[in-house]
Amino acid sequence: ESTLGAAAAQSGRYFGVAIAANRLSDSTYASIANREFNSVTAENEMKIDATEPQRGQFNFTNADRIYNWAVQNGKEVRGHTLAWHSQQPGWMQSLGGSALRQAMIDHINGVMAHYKGKIAQWDVVNEAFADGNSGARRDSNLERSGSDWIEVAFRTARAADPSAKLCYNDYNVENWTWAKTQAMYRMVKDFKQRGVPIDCVGFQSHFNSGSPYNSNFRTTLQEFAALGVDVAITELDIQGASPTTYAAVVNDCLAVSRCLGVTVWGVRDMDSWRSGDTPLLFNNDGSKKQAYSAVLNALNAG
Ligand code: G3I
Repeated sequence: ESTLGAAAAQSGRYFGVAIAANRLSDSTYASIANREFNSVTAENEMKIDATEPQRGQFNFTNADRIYNWAVQNGKEVRGHTLAWHSQQPGWMQSLGGSALRQAMIDHINGVMAHYKGKIAQWDVVNEAFADGNSGARRDSNLERSGSDWIEVAFRTARAADPSAKLCYNDYNVENWTWAKTQAMYRMVKDFKQRGVPIDCVGFQSHFNSGSPYNSNFRTTLQEFAALGVDVAITELDIQGASPTTYAAVVNDCLAVSRCLGVTVWGVRDMDSWRSGDTPLLFNNDGSKKQAYSAVLNALNAG
């Protein structure tokens, strides 16, 4: 196959991309995105601050721009994200305790109702674990509202849209030996044992010199899959875009039957949240980088 999406589809997987609504009018951007990818994540437009800027007043203008573009072009959509310490609107930042808990529940219900039956996977909870070696939860207003906030979010989400796969999503959880990875593993294991509804784990996979790719990523994917959840690579970008590292990540997904697919976090380097790292698959002029060919070859070989 000659595109990433079609190549991934040979093994029943998708190859996705993060889309920014305000770039869809850039014809180079939109034509690459449409040609190469068969899954879409909104880079910012489905987040809490975007979708509920005032409490109880939902705004899906930019989220729907991306959703409609994706569906009109035959792509599935990953929802990102419903409960997160970051990109909270001001009104939510100032809440705590039971008021915040209720606001989180209302937010999940409001957004998931709008997209009921339309989203392949939702990142229900994003980035709840602390960085470093503590293995602890990240401190946030959500965590201080009671550490059961994560399972409450998942139970709320299951009831709101039973057809969506419900994911927990985080970064620096790709290396099996890291404390953060092990903490996330213990949570997912506990959720599966207690029947908390979780279907998938998203590994963001923002690789750079501080958190480099390690070949034990495949072990991580296998260990989580063995708990009975699907896994996905949800925000892939690699500082410097090494072709061999890109191919290794794709091969890790292909090696795990429960790996649903790969999403890269932007189209061209200039579209990246860390454009100085030139971490993506396309040059700014829209041409394909060496990493693109490495990924395409890996998908076609797998
Ligand atoms: O929309 C405003 C605009 O009105 C304003 O003029 C402009 C001025 O700074 O800011 C715009 O908002 C920015 C937004 O991106 C849209 O471009 C924010 O400042 C900026 O902080 C925001 O960054 C996003 C970041 O999440 C915020 O946490 C990045 O685009 C986005 O790529 C990044 O994505 C995250 C994932 O959601 C979770 N995992 C990590 C990943 C990378 O940080």
